[in-house]
Amino acid sequence: MKKILFVCLGNICRSPMADGLLRKKAKELDLHIEIDSAGTANYHVGEAPDYRMIDTAIEKGTDISFLRARQFNKNDFQLFDLIFVMDKNNYLNVLKLSSSKVENNKVKLLLEDIKHPTLKEVPDPFYGTKIDFDNCYQILDDATNLLIEKYLK
Ligand code: 4NP
Repeated sequence: MKKILFVCLGNICRSPMADGLLRKKAKELDLHIEIDSAGTANYHVGEAPDYRMIDTAIEKGTDISFLRARQFNKNDFQLFDLIFVMDKNNYLNVLKLSSSKVENNKVKLLLEDIKHPTLKEVPDPFYGTKIDFDNCYQILDDATNLLIEKYLK
Protein backbone atom coordinates (compact mmCIF):
# COMPACT_ATOMS: atom_id res chain seq x y z
CA MET A 1 0.00 0.00 0.00
CA LYS A 2 1.42 3.39 -1.04
CA LYS A 3 1.86 5.89 1.77
CA ILE A 4 1.77 9.55 0.82
CA LEU A 5 2.58 12.58 2.95
CA PHE A 6 1.95 16.24 2.09
CA VAL A 7 4.06 18.90 3.78
CA CYS A 8 3.75 22.69 4.08
CA LEU A 9 4.82 25.17 6.78
CA GLY A 10 1.97 25.25 9.29
CA ASN A 11 -0.07 22.17 8.28
CA ILE A 12 -3.26 24.24 8.48
CA CYS A 13 -3.77 25.47 4.88
CA ARG A 14 -2.02 23.86 1.91
CA SER A 15 -1.05 20.37 3.08
CA PRO A 16 -4.39 19.54 4.80
CA MET A 17 -6.18 20.71 1.64
CA ALA A 18 -4.06 18.35 -0.49
CA ASP A 19 -4.53 15.59 2.12
CA GLY A 20 -8.33 16.02 2.12
CA LEU A 21 -8.59 16.13 -1.66
CA LEU A 22 -6.51 12.99 -2.15
CA ARG A 23 -8.45 11.15 0.58
CA LYS A 24 -11.71 12.02 -1.13
CA LYS A 25 -10.48 10.99 -4.58
CA ALA A 26 -8.88 7.78 -3.27
CA LYS A 27 -12.19 6.81 -1.70
CA GLU A 28 -14.10 7.57 -4.90
CA LEU A 29 -11.61 5.58 -7.00
CA ASP A 30 -11.30 2.78 -4.42
CA LEU A 31 -7.53 3.30 -4.17
CA HIS A 32 -6.03 1.70 -1.08
CA ILE A 33 -3.48 4.24 0.02
CA GLU A 34 -2.46 5.89 3.26
CA ILE A 35 -2.49 9.70 3.30
CA ASP A 36 -1.35 12.22 5.88
CA SER A 37 0.00 15.76 6.11
CA ALA A 38 2.44 17.65 8.31
CA GLY A 39 4.10 21.05 8.71
CA THR A 40 7.80 21.80 9.05
CA ALA A 41 6.93 24.33 11.78
CA ASN A 42 5.32 23.61 15.15
CA TYR A 43 3.22 26.82 15.35
CA HIS A 44 -0.16 25.14 14.95
CA VAL A 45 0.36 21.61 16.29
CA GLY A 46 -2.94 20.05 17.41
CA GLU A 47 -5.09 22.66 15.64
CA ALA A 48 -7.76 22.08 13.01
CA PRO A 49 -7.07 23.58 9.55
CA ASP A 50 -7.49 27.34 9.13
CA TYR A 51 -11.26 28.10 9.03
CA ARG A 52 -10.80 29.84 5.66
CA MET A 53 -9.37 26.65 4.16
CA ILE A 54 -12.10 24.56 5.81
CA ASP A 55 -14.79 26.88 4.36
CA THR A 56 -13.29 26.84 0.86
CA ALA A 57 -13.01 23.05 0.99
CA ILE A 58 -16.64 22.67 2.13
CA GLU A 59 -17.85 24.98 -0.65
CA LYS A 60 -16.21 22.63 -3.15
CA GLY A 61 -17.46 19.49 -1.45
CA THR A 62 -14.50 18.32 0.65
CA ASP A 63 -14.43 18.08 4.44
CA ILE A 64 -11.03 18.74 6.03
CA SER A 65 -12.31 19.88 9.43
CA PHE A 66 -11.35 16.60 11.16
CA LEU A 67 -7.65 16.92 10.32
CA ARG A 68 -5.22 18.08 13.05
CA ALA A 69 -1.87 19.75 12.54
CA ARG A 70 1.35 17.99 13.41
CA GLN A 71 5.01 18.68 12.83
CA PHE A 72 7.07 16.77 10.28
CA ASN A 73 9.76 14.62 11.89
CA LYS A 74 12.57 12.28 10.81
CA ASN A 75 10.41 9.21 11.45
CA ASP A 76 8.18 10.29 8.54
CA PHE A 77 10.92 9.17 6.14
CA GLN A 78 10.35 5.61 7.41
CA LEU A 79 6.55 5.85 7.44
CA PHE A 80 5.95 7.28 3.94
CA ASP A 81 6.92 6.34 0.37
CA LEU A 82 6.35 9.75 -1.19
CA ILE A 83 6.64 13.13 0.51
CA PHE A 84 5.18 16.02 -1.51
CA VAL A 85 6.21 19.48 -0.37
CA MET A 86 4.38 22.71 -1.23
CA ASP A 87 7.26 25.15 -1.65
CA LYS A 88 11.04 25.34 -1.98
CA ASN A 89 11.74 26.57 1.56
CA ASN A 90 9.88 23.69 3.13
CA TYR A 91 11.37 21.27 0.59
CA LEU A 92 14.86 22.29 1.76
CA ASN A 93 13.81 22.06 5.41
CA VAL A 94 12.50 18.52 4.90
CA LEU A 95 15.68 17.51 3.06
CA LYS A 96 17.79 18.84 5.96
CA LEU A 97 16.22 16.15 8.18
CA SER A 98 16.89 13.28 5.77
CA SER A 99 19.78 10.94 6.42
CA SER A 100 20.15 8.90 3.23
CA LYS A 101 19.81 9.00 -0.53
CA VAL A 102 16.77 6.71 -0.27
CA GLU A 103 15.10 9.22 2.05
CA ASN A 104 16.11 12.15 -0.19
CA ASN A 105 14.51 10.46 -3.18
CA LYS A 106 11.14 10.24 -1.45
CA VAL A 107 10.92 14.04 -1.24
CA LYS A 108 9.34 15.88 -4.19
CA LEU A 109 8.47 19.50 -4.82
CA LEU A 110 4.81 18.83 -5.63
CA LEU A 111 4.22 21.13 -8.61
CA GLU A 112 7.59 20.45 -10.18
CA ASP A 113 7.00 16.72 -9.86
CA ILE A 114 3.61 16.77 -11.56
CA LYS A 115 4.94 19.27 -14.14
CA HIS A 116 2.58 22.16 -13.44
CA PRO A 117 2.58 24.34 -16.58
CA THR A 118 3.39 27.63 -14.82
CA LEU A 119 4.08 27.18 -11.10
CA LYS A 120 6.86 25.56 -9.08
CA GLU A 121 5.35 26.33 -5.66
CA VAL A 122 1.86 26.32 -4.15
CA PRO A 123 1.49 29.94 -2.95
CA ASP A 124 0.92 30.28 0.80
CA PRO A 125 -2.63 31.68 1.26
CA PHE A 126 -2.24 32.34 5.03
CA TYR A 127 -1.80 36.12 4.74
CA GLY A 128 -4.08 36.35 1.72
CA THR A 129 -7.80 36.68 1.03
CA LYS A 130 -10.60 34.47 -0.28
CA ILE A 131 -9.14 34.60 -3.81
CA ASP A 132 -5.90 33.12 -2.51
CA PHE A 133 -7.70 30.26 -0.75
CA ASP A 134 -9.76 29.55 -3.88
CA ASN A 135 -6.59 29.61 -5.97
CA CYS A 136 -4.85 27.27 -3.52
CA TYR A 137 -7.79 24.84 -3.73
CA GLN A 138 -7.74 24.89 -7.54
CA ILE A 139 -3.99 24.29 -7.78
CA LEU A 140 -4.23 21.36 -5.35
CA ASP A 141 -7.31 19.90 -7.04
CA ASP A 142 -5.40 19.80 -10.35
CA ALA A 143 -2.16 18.61 -8.71
CA THR A 144 -3.84 15.72 -6.89
CA ASN A 145 -5.46 14.59 -10.16
CA LEU A 146 -2.06 14.52 -11.86
CA LEU A 147 -0.49 12.79 -8.86
CA ILE A 148 -3.09 10.03 -9.10
CA GLU A 149 -2.36 9.62 -12.82
CA LYS A 150 1.39 9.50 -12.24
CA TYR A 151 1.66 7.28 -9.17
CA LEU A 152 -1.62 5.57 -8.38
CA LYS A 153 -3.08 4.26 -11.63
P1 4NP B 1 0.38 26.53 5.45
O1 4NP B 1 0.10 28.08 5.73
O2 4NP B 1 1.89 26.35 5.53
O3 4NP B 1 -0.16 26.32 4.08
O4 4NP B 1 -0.34 25.76 6.54
C1 4NP B 1 0.61 28.77 6.83
C2 4NP B 1 0.02 28.60 8.06
C3 4NP B 1 0.49 29.30 9.16
C4 4NP B 1 1.55 30.18 9.01
C5 4NP B 1 2.15 30.34 7.76
C6 4NP B 1 1.67 29.62 6.67
N1 4NP B 1 2.02 30.94 10.11
O5 4NP B 1 2.94 31.74 9.93
O6 4NP B 1 1.49 30.76 11.23
